[in-house]
Amino acid sequence: VSKKISIAIDGPAAAGKSTVAKIIAQKLSYIYVDTGAMYRSLTWKALREHVDLENQNELYDLLKKTEIKLVNEEKQQKVYVDRFDVTEEIRRPDVTKHVSIVSKHELVRKEMVRRQQEIGKRGGVIMDGRDIGTHVMPNAEVKIFLLASVDERAERRHRENIEKGIESNLEQIKKDIAARDKLDTEREIAPLRKAEDAIEIDTTSLSIDEVAEKILAIIQERIG
Ligand code: CDP
Ligand code: CDP
Repeated sequence: VSKKISIAIDGPAAAGKSTVAKIIAQKLSYIYVDTGAMYRSLTWKALREHVDLENQNELYDLLKKTEIKLVNEEKQQKVYVDRFDVTEEIRRPDVTKHVSIVSKHELVRKEMVRRQQEIGKRGGVIMDGRDIGTHVMPNAEVKIFLLASVDERAERRHRENIEKGIESNLEQIKKDIAARDKLDTEREIAPLRKAEDAIEIDTTSLSIDEVAEKILAIIQERIG
């Protein structure tokens, strides 16, 4: 059995992070950690409790008393907030629209990173997000930065909605993704950016399997 390493996957919305991370986690029997789901979970609860999303102290207090659990199942990861299954609800448009506001706050990020590092400390983990290679797991053996054009990413989310039978407007998705990209890359604390030692993969014209293969090859090389 090879050494259990840490793998960081970062990149903008709908670059394919979670889809390929899940495939790789299954192949290697690693734990998959969707850090975006954690920020979405806090956003979901804050909206429900009418917490002011600009008020960092209130958000921090809320987070401190909120249990967020990521449970790995066969093909998907279930997300629980204080024992409620929020797996579907945290993908809703109102959560998506507000999540980048919640995640800009320093105190919120500190506590999230603390929880993520606690999960990641034993290795054998593949974690995806925006700041994994730069802040959460700066010593990860493998760091990947996934990219794709905004048009391609919007098309992907659009297709996903149609497959799920959710009403979908391509132009609106494109606008929302661009707005989130901007907030995530321009925020002061741990903005979205490629770690110096990350390997960049432009997935615009690659299939899911092609991306997974590329990353697996990089991992094999590192594990030896
Ligand atoms: O799946 P999608 O790419 O749409 O988003 P996500 O990965 O679920 O992340 C949702 C939002 O959470 C991002 O747009 C960021 O604002 C925030 N996030 C973050 O700030 N840091 C992370 N490590 C992960 C997510
Ligand atoms: O996690 P992230 O937001 O980066 O993206 P995702 O949720 O894994 O992928 C968004 C959508 O794009 C999913 O429906 C994937 O099936 C699709 N996808 C694709 O069509 N081609 C790729 N190379 C990667 C993902």
